[in-house]
Amino acid sequence: MSPDRPLRVVVAGQGYVGLPLAMRAVAVGHEVVGFDVSVDRVKRLAAGESFVEDIPSATVAEALSSGRYQVTDTAVGCEGFDVAVICVPTPLDEGRPDLTNVESAALALGPFLQPGCLVVLESTSYPGTTESLLVPCLESGSGLHAGTDFQVGYSPERIDPGNTRWTIETTPKLVAGIDARSLDRTDDFYRTLVSETVRVDSTGAAELAKLLENTFRHVNIALVNELAMVAADLDLDVWQVIDAAATKPFGFMKFSPGPGVGGHCLPIDPSYLSWTVRRRLGRPFRFVELANDINDHMPDYVHTRLVQALNRRGLAMTGAKVLILGLAYKRNSSDARESPAVQLIAHLVAAGARLTVVDPHVVEDVLPGIDILGAQPSPAQLTAQDAVVLVTDHDAFDYEAVLRHSAYVLDTRHRLEGPRVEHL
Ligand SMILES: NC(=O)c1ccc[n+]([C@@H]2O[C@H](COP(=O)([O-])OP(=O)(O)OC[C@H]3O[C@@H](n4cnc5c(N)ncnc54)[C@H](O)[C@@H]3O)[C@@H](O)[C@H]2O)c1
Repeated sequence: MSPDRPLRVVVAGQGYVGLPLAMRAVAVGHEVVGFDVSVDRVKRLAAGESFVEDIPSATVAEALSSGRYQVTDTAVGCEGFDVAVICVPTPLDEGRPDLTNVESAALALGPFLQPGCLVVLESTSYPGTTESLLVPCLESGSGLHAGTDFQVGYSPERIDPGNTRWTIETTPKLVAGIDARSLDRTDDFYRTLVSETVRVDSTGAAELAKLLENTFRHVNIALVNELAMVAADLDLDVWQVIDAAATKPFGFMKFSPGPGVGGHCLPIDPSYLSWTVRRRLGRPFRFVELANDINDHMPDYVHTRLVQALNRRGLAMTGAKVLILGLAYKRNSSDARESPAVQLIAHLVAAGARLTVVDPHVVEDVLPGIDILGAQPSPAQLTAQDAVVLVTDHDAFDYEAVLRHSAYVLDTRHRLEGPRVEHL
């Protein structure tokens, strides 16, 4: 639904969530200010450069030239908004939720709140964050009262980087508010951006729903990861087992094993759930703790499998030449946050392997002291390796060359078939 009148929208945080949202808001006709504390990000965006794969730089450039998208690194540029959406990171600090970014974004926006405006939180967090943390910060910064003077909503982002079928526009969006008016306003705003909104009775329920979505995925990945380790010991092919089970047309959902979980969501969000359950109810959320345990162990397991494979050929890990294909946590993504590849590489470095790391997407310096090759490995580079480990199966890799020139490949994603390929 296009808006009756264009709104002045601030999107605080111009990252993987905030930038696509800002671009969508521009596309439907709103006037958007992208506010981000990263001076470098703001500079690059102002020059029309995107760092999010799903958003081409041309889209940012077009938004800028439409005159309906501006970027700023100070909250002063946010003055006079109708709607502000907060999409800032919610990391863990030594296993505990770290909401300082949400707090500082709310405190920065506070002085610019005007009667009648709407503020929505999109960042993932534990139930109670909107009411108990966001609202007090907004009220103290503005001197206004939430509910009467301005409205507050929660609408978790469900973005799936690289997914072209389910986009911001086509994915149903949960909307919630701290009261009935806030819910209506939040719903009205998102109906200008997405094809379907789903109203949830309270912000707490919407916050918990988001944690359930990510914990569901985390737990199911842990299940198949544990199965992969068991199947290998039973001398059974876990991939065939999963494909066989997935032919059941009901009551089963397919998940794939891998070298571990990464990105901003799975390694972090379920711990927001277990932390809040422990703090408020005094008991563990056992599924999350078990899933963390299994998924965190996977890079170590891949390392062990590689040691065993080298030993079978009379080779030691110390001094072995190992080529890592893929550093990002996910196929065709440049996002290497919490990537299992980084942990695997740390194990290999500690064991004395001689590493070559190739990733055509990752540009950030996530491995201090280790060069990341952006180009395809040459036939000579592949031939020179004792082992190649396919960690992230980017489409850009030349898999035929990998199969032709490698002495041994440990494929953690089940992308390759061949006489010298071993699967997880
Ligand atoms: N990336 C995903 O796929 C995804 C999916 C669903 C939900 N989420 C959730 O969305 C939130 C944002 O994640 P992201 O992946 O976009 O993070 P990101 O790191 O890509 O982007 C966040 C941006 O916020 C900026 N920022 C930090 N503090 C700020 C402040 N006080 N004011 C203004 N800007 C500030 C950072 O500089 C950064 O550019 C998180 O809570 C995350 O869990 C992420």
